[in-house]
Amino acid sequence: MTSRILLQLCALLVLLYSKSAAATSDSKPGKCSLEHFQSQTRDLKRFDSGDLSKYQQVAAKLEPCLDETHRDLLLFNNEIHYKMGLIHLSMGNDMKAIKSFEGLQSLGDSYYNLSKTRLSDLYVEFGLWLKLKELIPEDDTGEIFESLNKTLYEKINDPDKLSTIDDELVPMLNISPYDLDTLTIRADFLFHKLFTTKTLNDITSAYEIVRIYDVILEKHKIALTLDQRIEIHYTAALLQLLILNSEPTLHLRKCLAIDMDYKPCKDLSLLVSRLNKINPSRSQLFDTQSYALGSNVDWKKVSDYYLSKKRENIVNYQWINNKITELVNSNTDLLITNRPVTKGLFKFNPETPLVDDAANFSFFRFIDIIVCEASMQLTHTNDPDKKKNKKAADHFCKKALKLTLNDDEWNQFMDAMNKKETQLPDEFTTNLWNTYPTLATYMVEKIISRKNFRGGNEHLQTHIIKFFQDNELFGAENPVIKAQASVIKQVFEKKQKLDQQRQRQQQQQHQQQQFNFFQQFANGQHGQQQQYQQRAPPQQPGHNPDKDYYKILGVAKDANTKDIRKAYLNLTKKYHPDKQGSLSEDEQKKVHEKMSEINEAYEFLSDDSKRNEYDQGRAGGRPGGQNQGFNFQGQGNPFPFGNMRRGF
Ligand SMILES: *[C@@H]1O[C@H](CO)[C@@H](O)[C@H](O)[C@H]1NC(C)=O
Ligand SMILES: *[C@@H]1O[C@H](CO)[C@@H](O)[C@H](O)[C@H]1NC(C)=O
Ligand SMILES: *[C@@H]1O[C@H](CO)[C@@H](O)[C@H](O)[C@H]1NC(C)=O
Ligand SMILES: *[C@@H]1O[C@H](CO)[C@@H](O)[C@H](O)[C@H]1NC(C)=O
Repeated sequence: MTSRILLQLCALLVLLYSKSAAATSDSKPGKCSLEHFQSQTRDLKRFDSGDLSKYQQVAAKLEPCLDETHRDLLLFNNEIHYKMGLIHLSMGNDMKAIKSFEGLQSLGDSYYNLSKTRLSDLYVEFGLWLKLKELIPEDDTGEIFESLNKTLYEKINDPDKLSTIDDELVPMLNISPYDLDTLTIRADFLFHKLFTTKTLNDITSAYEIVRIYDVILEKHKIALTLDQRIEIHYTAALLQLLILNSEPTLHLRKCLAIDMDYKPCKDLSLLVSRLNKINPSRSQLFDTQSYALGSNVDWKKVSDYYLSKKRENIVNYQWINNKITELVNSNTDLLITNRPVTKGLFKFNPETPLVDDAANFSFFRFIDIIVCEASMQLTHTNDPDKKKNKKAADHFCKKALKLTLNDDEWNQFMDAMNKKETQLPDEFTTNLWNTYPTLATYMVEKIISRKNFRGGNEHLQTHIIKFFQDNELFGAENPVIKAQASVIKQVFEKKQKLDQQRQRQQQQQHQQQQFNFFQQFANGQHGQQQQYQQRAPPQQPGHNPDKDYYKILGVAKDANTKDIRKAYLNLTKKYHPDKQGSLSEDEQKKVHEKMSEINEAYEFLSDDSKRNEYDQGRAGGRPGGQNQGFNFQGQGNPFPFGNMRRGF
């Protein structure tokens, strides 16, 4: 009896010993045991880069142990690769995520199934059709894409049809937003548009090109050569500075970080830093809150730098113009013939200089606005040249304002100043304020100085008072706005008294029908919550709450993103005019309209926040985003594709 117990005890001891040996050393017996590997990953759950490197180590050690006889290890290997894939995704390294997910073996386990779903989404997003077919033979997304691609290339080779290639590019990028070829072709096409139409201030195209370049840099970084990356940074910076009126510092910094001596970036950088020594920052000018707060910019210095003694023209205008013209024209090669990662599909004539007058770039509107602002500010200080400053403000502010408003809007402004009974549309001034606070301030300055305003155009008074209240400008510290506020307050109080008087009279006359301006005013404000979104130019075209996007896509109101995407693919297949040639012109037009409608519906339903806004708009909450804000000249209306969000 006792000897058997002893024997068992011995066996147990041996077992324990060998187990602990396996856990503490890499000696042979434990090296390929599941417990051994599991113990190394047990505490990992942070899903960050630290965990990633640990998983990678384990995966590397696991590799030599993998064979058919160790199903437990194969399963564990799947788990590890799936988790690595998720971490790569969360860090935005989609290409590396694909590699990790491809490391799983088909064992019918849930990790494999999960990663198969991820992988198929990624293959579609990146346009990896052969791999998709291998993974899921019955998936025909690739065929839809290829048929669009076929039409696309036919159009590229037919100058008459070139202008409509967005009909293919937009759905292609809706299906595969990261397909490098398609992204590149669209950037190329937009460049073509930008430079052949000679509208150097086509904000929408420029914005879209920069966006595409950012996507390419983010998603295909490893596939790009250093030269390509430098060129993309330079081109993006140039577009940001000249057309988009935004700070190009980030792209310039990244460009110079790759090659400190790259001349185009160096030259551009010098110009930017030289002007930045004089110019106020963009946030001081364009961020409404900072603007209302006022700044400690030395406006006298700004004015002295830009304006001649008589303050009638910009002295450095020509210098800046020449500098920019030279900068663009000396890099014609880069911008036209060898655009970054170009497919070289669109032919230009590089013989002629790209730009003969850089003043057409919207960058010069930025300078006009700076000069306008400086002159306006100086009229509200004790600067002795009040008259000259005022004249300069009028000249430069008006010039910029005229370029910003379209003809209708300009006429409305003129009428508001001159005609007694004109009304400005509700959001007119606020929209301008959200885009160019300087110009809205100038507009208010002009309006309130008119007899028309003080003398009792009540619509106008209400409009301006509401503008000040909505944007909380009665407490602004900006000296120009402060001065305006005191004038407007007087008008407000006078109006208040008048309204009270009237009210008393009315009350006496008919007790029932009382007209209370303030009450009406307060109600008006509540019913129409102000939207304070800082609109970056170019504004996103708004949804149309009158259209039923769900019906257009044929999905239920509570459809999830996947259903919406499926329905979109389905409709793309159905309506894509692959057989365009055989359709009459009328039919082609109808198909085109249908497809635009489908694209629009997809744009808003595929993006959670846009979908939310649309749903609210339909529910009768806020008015839709349409017609808010000002049209920028030269802005076409391509239907930008919504970006697909994958749940993570
Ligand atoms: C994985 O998918 C296969 C095929 O669709 C299925 O048979 C299997 O049950 C799934 N495994 C798990 C764990 O869900
Ligand atoms: C698109 O068409 C071009 C030209 O026919 C071809 O070279 C390219 O491989 C096609 N791309 C896809 C994804 O089908
Ligand atoms: C620049 O603008 C002027 C006048 O607005 C126009 O005549 C000229 O063609 C434009 N040049 C370019 C290159 O756009
Ligand atoms: C796809 O379209 C066909 C007809 O065109 C329709 O019968 C089918 O239900 C649609 N599928 C989806 C997922 O919308």
